[in-house]
Amino acid sequence: MWTHPRIAGYLSQALSHEMSVVQQYLTQSNLCGCWGMGVECDHFRREAGEELEHAGKIIRHMLTLGLAPNATQLQPVHPGRDMAEMLTFDWHLEEEAVRLYDDALRYAQRCRDEASSRLFAELLADEQAHLQELERMLAKLAEKEK
Ligand SMILES: [Fe+2]
Ligand SMILES: [Fe+2]
Repeated sequence: MWTHPRIAGYLSQALSHEMSVVQQYLTQSNLCGCWGMGVECDHFRREAGEELEHAGKIIRHMLTLGLAPNATQLQPVHPGRDMAEMLTFDWHLEEEAVRLYDDALRYAQRCRDEASSRLFAELLADEQAHLQELERMLAKLAEKEK
């Protein structure tokens, strides 16, 4: 099956992104565990699980297209030194994901690649929800620190 090279590029970039955020959230989860912050530890573990599901969906789609699912560009982890810093780093990562899936979706629609469009639309909606959740958490944190 022929896939547009740019769609293959978006998929590969997406897989690298998802694997990077799994690493980020797992690191933050374990850090919170070390600090005795059980609720936050669970929160980041759940996030890591959701991002891992995203990676799985991308891998499945790449396999159906006959593409090798290699995440070649893992980003360095920036866990942060406190909750506000952690959530701010994560906000930037989620914003990056929204931009990536927005671009990828537009391109897949232009190519009339329906299966890729469906996947990118689903991932975009999830990442937008992650971004909103982080904004809520950051606002709550700022309110507490007043
Ligand atoms: Fe994701
Ligand atoms: Fe996300």
